[in-house]
Amino acid sequence: MTNHYRPAQSLLVEDGLELRVPEEGDSEELFLKIDENRQYLREWLPWLDDVKSVEEEAAAIRQGAYSENGCMYLILLGGSIVGTVGLNSIDWANRRFTIGYWLSEDSTGNGIVTKCCARIIDHCFTDLDLHRATILVAVENSISRAVPERLGMSLEGIEKDREWLYDHFVDAAIYGVTAPNWNVIRNQSGHGHQ
Ligand SMILES: CC(C)(COP(=O)(O)OP(=O)(O)OC[C@H]1O[C@@H](n2cnc3c(N)ncnc32)[C@H](O)[C@@H]1OP(=O)(O)O)[C@@H](O)C(=O)NCCC(=O)NCCS
Repeated sequence: MTNHYRPAQSLLVEDGLELRVPEEGDSEELFLKIDENRQYLREWLPWLDDVKSVEEEAAAIRQGAYSENGCMYLILLGGSIVGTVGLNSIDWANRRFTIGYWLSEDSTGNGIVTKCCARIIDHCFTDLDLHRATILVAVENSISRAVPERLGMSLEGIEKDREWLYDHFVDAAIYGVTAPNWNVIRNQSGHGHQ
């Protein structure tokens, strides 16, 4: 079966907060933001050692920023990059996808990632006809676990040794929501579609 849906290249979250697929011209700004936050991000993200220069970031953007099976969005606050959200592993046959994210440390505490995830989930369920969203978070990463919990997603289980983080495995908490449940949650929280 041919799938005709494609993830959006950009999404407006709210005034001044946007998601946009990066272009090669974004490499330097994105690299500098990662570099500033390298130690902070390294605690929970496995890929920091793969991004050591603007050129490596440009290559990553060229190779992996957008495909029909997923994409990376820059989080743009007032036009500046403050993090990314990945719409990863779209499985069109089973109509499911996964979300991953990081934020510059000085942009935390404002609900930015929670709002961006909600926008992507809305887009996937409403515009792409997908059915199930998951977010996988290291069990000990309580700040990140608060994101799917704030979104109303359900804890569905723990995957043992899900991810290798430089020198050790971490277990992952699996959070999920289906499209019908998402509509109920959004309507209860007053964010339903008009
Ligand atoms: C995970 C991470 C993105 C979470 O950042 P965050 O700022 O806590 O998440 P949000 O942007 O959703 O903001 C939530 C915070 O803003 C507050 N907030 C303010 N306005 C808000 C709003 N309108 N909606 C939701 N939350 C709001 C919340 O209360 C919360 O603060 P609190 O923890 O002090 O209660 C960040 O800690 C990070 O990048 N960590 C390192 C990398 C990482 O772990 N990535 C995830 C791997 S799974």
